[in-house]
Amino acid sequence: MEREIRFFDTTLRDGEQTPGVHFDAETKVTLARRLEDFGAAVVEAGFPASSPGDAEAVRRVAEALERAEVAALARCRAGDIDAAAEALAPARRPVVHVVLGVSDIHLAKKLRMSRAAAVRAIAESVTRARRRVERVQFSAEDASRADPVFLRQCAQAAADAGASRVNLPDTVGCALPEEYGAMIADVAAFLDRSVIVSAHCHNDLGLATANTLAAVRAGARQVEGCVNGLGERAGNAAVEEVAAALRLKRIAATGIRLEQAAELSRLVAEAAGVPVQPNRALVGANAFTHSSGIHQDGLLKDPETYEFVSPALVGAPGHRFVITARSGRAAVAREAARAGVNVAPGDVDRVYRAVLRAADARGGAVDPEEIARIAAGV
Ligand code: KIV
Ligand code: ZN
Repeated sequence: MEREIRFFDTTLRDGEQTPGVHFDAETKVTLARRLEDFGAAVVEAGFPASSPGDAEAVRRVAEALERAEVAALARCRAGDIDAAAEALAPARRPVVHVVLGVSDIHLAKKLRMSRAAAVRAIAESVTRARRRVERVQFSAEDASRADPVFLRQCAQAAADAGASRVNLPDTVGCALPEEYGAMIADVAAFLDRSVIVSAHCHNDLGLATANTLAAVRAGARQVEGCVNGLGERAGNAAVEEVAAALRLKRIAATGIRLEQAAELSRLVAEAAGVPVQPNRALVGANAFTHSSGIHQDGLLKDPETYEFVSPALVGAPGHRFVITARSGRAAVAREAARAGVNVAPGDVDRVYRAVLRAADARGGAVDPEEIARIAAGV
């Protein structure tokens, strides 16, 4: 049977850490409902101890969702854990997400804590969270730069205290796929099989999706990410990319309704005020736009020639041609027809040459109205 991978969506928490982004409670509820419908197994709603407004937003999301688990972040501090548990009180399936930096860099420089104190803090915090909720996730922040033996010890301490999920983030996005996969495999083999190992990758080297896929191959049963790859610095793994790769490469089932991806991407971009870059995979404006004559000719014969991903997979409206000086006769005639002017076969060459002259003069794309005007003139 095909494996099933759980999606832990953190658009509303890590995604909101995108510089300049703020989602108010209303927006979080609207997006959380869409994320639940999209198929996220877990929706991380926020970090209640960070502000009263976020505590309220988490509470509202907790009230709103019916099927997905709702997670809230907490550092290894009693106040954070209590704030998370309180905000999650209305949730049908609450998850307290406890985090502690476990690399020596984080322990020595940020937390000023010994390794022994870190293990104690993990055990105490997970125990405290477990008194309030059944599902606790422990994240070993900066896991990819931690000592592997100590990382196992932290993961085991969390599991022994009752965490049923252990997340191993590549917090600074420094890992290569083979390194990240090896870390996941090592911890997954060390822990009891009942503990779900989760992958959480940042995109500082542009490898977040590749690393997440390597983690799945290495035994991760949950993947974390944000719509449009939002997140701190260069962002998190994009959920739509990970889900599409798992589906199209037949690696695992996901429960994600990918056909909602284009619309969800648009909603998140609008709510975040962060436009999607045109060449973004799957959801960018150019993801299904073809410009060169060679490609357009292939597409007209069979879309499979130049589209590995079909627009329908992510609910995009379809492919689009732009006419430039690199386009060909067939595409120019097609665009003229789409703009309302049917070009007779004997006139195609003249129209094409006139469009080329316009494109060369412009140094860019010729829009459909101008193609129609040129075709009508010829
Ligand atoms: O990147 C990270 O380490 C995190 C943790 C809080 C899970 O976002
Ligand atoms: Zn993160």
